[in-house]
Amino acid sequence: MRADWPGESVSRIPNWLYTDPEVYAREQARIFGGRSWCYVGLGVEVPGPGDFKRSFVGERPVILVRDDAGALRVLENRCAHRGLQLCLRPHGRVRELVCPYHQWTYDLTGRLVGVPFRRGVKGQGGMPPEFQLEAHALGSLAVAERHGVVFASFDAGTEPLADYLGPASASRCTARSSSRSGPGASGASTFTAATQSRVWP
Ligand code: FES
Repeated sequence: MRADWPGESVSRIPNWLYTDPEVYAREQARIFGGRSWCYVGLGVEVPGPGDFKRSFVGERPVILVRDDAGALRVLENRCAHRGLQLCLRPHGRVRELVCPYHQWTYDLTGRLVGVPFRRGVKGQGGMPPEFQLEAHALGSLAVAERHGVVFASFDAGTEPLADYLGPASASRCTARSSSRSGPGASGASTFTAATQSRVWP
């Protein structure tokens, strides 16, 4: 990685920093793939069981979905079979997630529940005897929701969202939510783009 930096000040950012592929790769791995909470959607966008929305954490595609118990899940949009994106629609409602390529089927928590021709056909083909459905779930991210805004993290050890935001950001979110409460206002709708940009550490 280039290390030349103009002058002593950090107030001028050199142009190469915005286009350096190594910096970009480290940003994807350490920020979006590391211990950080990333915005993936709003709870109101997936109000009922089976409602889903495609989203991204960095450049990695994910699926925000509400499971049968009403819990929010964020699953990697990457089939455990050949690694292809299994969810191609931007949003919708499903009973299960079915990969369009070879129809591996996952429940709304990301567990693999079906593989076509698992035992083969007339003794031919199929998966090996040691194949275990449980070993091929979709990748699952940690999830946190605040005032209807849903965040996800690839690192299960990421600190709680309230600690991550810090007391100033957390109280600002709460104050903004409270100030807009009342008829016609929901907690989710109080999060403006400007607010979101400010809560990032
Ligand atoms: S790539 Fe998804 S079932 Fe084969």
